[in-house]
Amino acid sequence: MATDSLTITDNRTGQTYEVPISDGTVRAMDLRQIKVDEDEFGMMAYDPAFTNTASCRSSVTYIDGAAGILEHRGYSIEQLCEKSTFLEVAYLLIFGELPTAPQLDRWMFDITHHTFVHEDLKHLFEGFRYDAHPMGMLLAGVGALSTFYPDAKQIGDPEERYMAAVRLIAKVPTLAAFSYRHNMGLPYVYPDNELNYAENFLSMVFKKTEDRHIPKEALTKALDVLFILHADHEQNCSTNAVRGVGSSDVDPYSAVAAGVAALYGPLHGGANEAVLRMLRRIESPENIPEFLERVKQRDEKLMGFGHRVYKNYDPRARIIQQYIEPVFEATEYSPLVEIARELEKRALDDEYFTERKLYPNVDFYSGIIYEAMGIPTDMFTVIFAIPRTAGWVAQWMEMQEDPEKKIARPRQIYTGERELEYVPIEQREGPEKIVGPPARRPKRPRRGA
Ligand code: SDX
Repeated sequence: MATDSLTITDNRTGQTYEVPISDGTVRAMDLRQIKVDEDEFGMMAYDPAFTNTASCRSSVTYIDGAAGILEHRGYSIEQLCEKSTFLEVAYLLIFGELPTAPQLDRWMFDITHHTFVHEDLKHLFEGFRYDAHPMGMLLAGVGALSTFYPDAKQIGDPEERYMAAVRLIAKVPTLAAFSYRHNMGLPYVYPDNELNYAENFLSMVFKKTEDRHIPKEALTKALDVLFILHADHEQNCSTNAVRGVGSSDVDPYSAVAAGVAALYGPLHGGANEAVLRMLRRIESPENIPEFLERVKQRDEKLMGFGHRVYKNYDPRARIIQQYIEPVFEATEYSPLVEIARELEKRALDDEYFTERKLYPNVDFYSGIIYEAMGIPTDMFTVIFAIPRTAGWVAQWMEMQEDPEKKIARPRQIYTGERELEYVPIEQREGPEKIVGPPARRPKRPRRGA
């Protein structure tokens, strides 16, 4: 009778081992028993970038990459974008259920009344150059929040965890807007409690001399949907960073700052910024064939395409496309859309991309909408960080309740030297004069290689 286990035969010793299978996985620790000599450390699994490693159990987000399915706490992303709002989805991610009306009212009241940041944080932002990248300022601002709320270190206290969740979701948009205003040399705009979450962010970014900045409905609707689409995405690079740093029991502000740092990278959250720069470099649809050739020569990457999990169309990219027209009706039309549409069409007709299962991901169209809203390119990833803060908080909260929670400390395959004798500096060989950074010493063949 088939059993849920692997039988592993170690051909070095002829010994066999029964390793149980649960949830379609084997525990890496079950490999440690596989040894040749009893005093060995034992077998490890090797999985750089964790391409085939489950790091945790989670019920926040479900993705079926082959089928292009994305669900949050069991609700499809399509339903949530059509029927919910970002703050309601943030509640769902964090607390696991759709809120009742009183629960949602209290949640929205708490977040609305925690959008201000301490005045001293303005001095932190004033220390940045005028042209500092806003993601660098957001990274510093989120980390600095940990110094204003030292009680957040009591991560075992549910009330402290709740307040950290509220403060992070409420204050990240304010810090994001402050970074934009600093870059523009404009005075900071304080939160307006009469506005909803998306309206308030756009007001803090764009308000000038008018008494109250009311953004166009099409823009706030599109932004709220974009916030929902970017809220969480299971164990992506930045969530992995939040969980890894959070596993040391550091406060949640510092753990979320690690997520901001990871999202900054052009292969992750920075891709939407890179997509716009790529579209501008292409300049016109006529240049697309030559650009795609450069991609095939690996001289370029088709930014906004490809995904570690989705080997089909990213469902978020499909949803975003529904909001492009309404946004362009409310703003100036962007010629970049033509280039993006033609680029997508040609790439999807080209087996180089379809063979590698490279389809548009969430970043391919989001940047075009932000551009149409008049948001500068280097703010795109900052806008990604705003809703992803809810996902990072939800995953961090879930980890606190995980009975298997331990400090993250991977192992390694050691490839360096062993047991060398120290060489006095006068006996060391090398060039008489050093020009430029020290050259990396050529790898010596491994012992026994
Ligand atoms: C996000 O993980 C998440 O969930 C992330 C995210 C989230 O919500 O948190 O969804 C958000 O980060 C979306 C992804 C945004 N990044 C980009 O758009 C940057 C461009 N895309 C890639 O660099 C790439 O596709 C990754 C990083 C997203 C995924 O890379 P993988 O899964 O490690 O795939 P790979 O690098 O092993 O590539 C497989 C093949 C390779 O070709 P071969 O060497 O086999 O011939 O596909 C090629 C790659 O060269 N390839 C690309 C490509 N992406 C992969 N070739 C050209 N252009 C690309 N964009």
